[in-house]
Amino acid sequence: MPQNRLITRRRALQFGLGAAASAGLSAKAYGSYLSSQVQTRNSLEDSIANSSSSLKQKAAAKGLIYGSSGRYKDLMEDQKFAACFVQECGMLVPEWELKWSAGEQPLRPSPAVFDFTRGDRLARFAQTNQLLLRGHSLVWHLSLPDWFAQTVDSQNAEDFLTSHIRTVVGHYAGQMHSWDVVNEAIELADGQPGGLRNTPWLKLLGSNYINLAFRAAAAADPDALLVYNDYGLEYGHASDDAKRSAVLKLLEGLKTQGTPVHALGIQSHLSGDAGDFDANKLRHFLADVADLGLKVLITELDVTDQRLPSDIATRDRIVAEAYENYLLVVLDQPAVMAVITWGLSDRYTWLSEFTPRSDGASVRSLPLNANFDRKPAWYAVARAFEEASRH
Ligand code: XIL
Repeated sequence: MPQNRLITRRRALQFGLGAAASAGLSAKAYGSYLSSQVQTRNSLEDSIANSSSSLKQKAAAKGLIYGSSGRYKDLMEDQKFAACFVQECGMLVPEWELKWSAGEQPLRPSPAVFDFTRGDRLARFAQTNQLLLRGHSLVWHLSLPDWFAQTVDSQNAEDFLTSHIRTVVGHYAGQMHSWDVVNEAIELADGQPGGLRNTPWLKLLGSNYINLAFRAAAAADPDALLVYNDYGLEYGHASDDAKRSAVLKLLEGLKTQGTPVHALGIQSHLSGDAGDFDANKLRHFLADVADLGLKVLITELDVTDQRLPSDIATRDRIVAEAYENYLLVVLDQPAVMAVITWGLSDRYTWLSEFTPRSDGASVRSLPLNANFDRKPAWYAVARAFEEASRH
């Protein structure tokens, strides 16, 4: 391997470890993760330059994590998918299983019950296959169970919130790289102070619910990186401008009151027909977040092809361009430490239901196609990792 490449790689790793430590992430877990990636790399012939190396290896070469969300059923019942997942990903985010209520076997089937069966099996899968594990999400208005409205009131709400977090975060303490503690708390259209979404938690506890949630998570697992996660922050539209300011104000306020928030998660559900990014706005926003001492994770990256032409080659090219254009801007910011796609293969993506195509064709939004072959989107993400200049 050429000497200069080796130096660049070492510097990238140093950066990665420093970033993890300063963010409060367990340096031990992150360090052994990166060195396992390096050993794998060193056993291959200069795999950075080798286009067949995986996305996780290309990311790790720049001190970054690449991972994906995955659902229990898909990973447990489709061995070929599971093998591809392990080959490409350095991190697993259970897509349903750690929400209060989602999927066939919810975590919170009733007020007094926690069912960790599926979460635990996914955690074991991650551990066996040397994947980092990331928790999603502790507070999200869209995953509240049916029993919530009849059971939780202003008297017991704080206890429900903090005991949920204590129990779930405590259960996985030491195993989690990071947690999405609060998801999607901003909705300007709701007209609440600070642009807060008018969720049941806001109605029951006021705006302090966010601070309470982060404090409970930090107490239950002091090593996990604690993340505020949101969408609608990526493009140059006026609505994204307003949301970026509201999120920034929220984060500033949390930092000022000493709330243990360590990172911003930018979901990054992109749209193939949304036009160009406003690279300057995005760069400024990322710099403002980094100036608060926060890390940034790209947490749910995918590209909807709902309104793109039906021709597959054209669609794949446009989707790939969206990935590459976005990541080239985002990866320029040193505070960005991870890129997670919301799914790995077109066979298993929430977009098949959320943004289906009117021509009935299958969606082509992720790095691998439905047969798990690499698509232009895979090469676009790979190139963005290769080209990222990390200082
Ligand atoms: C989605 C999952 O992908 C779906 O399978 C599930 O039915 C609903 O949730 N933003 C989020 C994620 O933070 O939790 C959502 O995931 C997608 C939008």
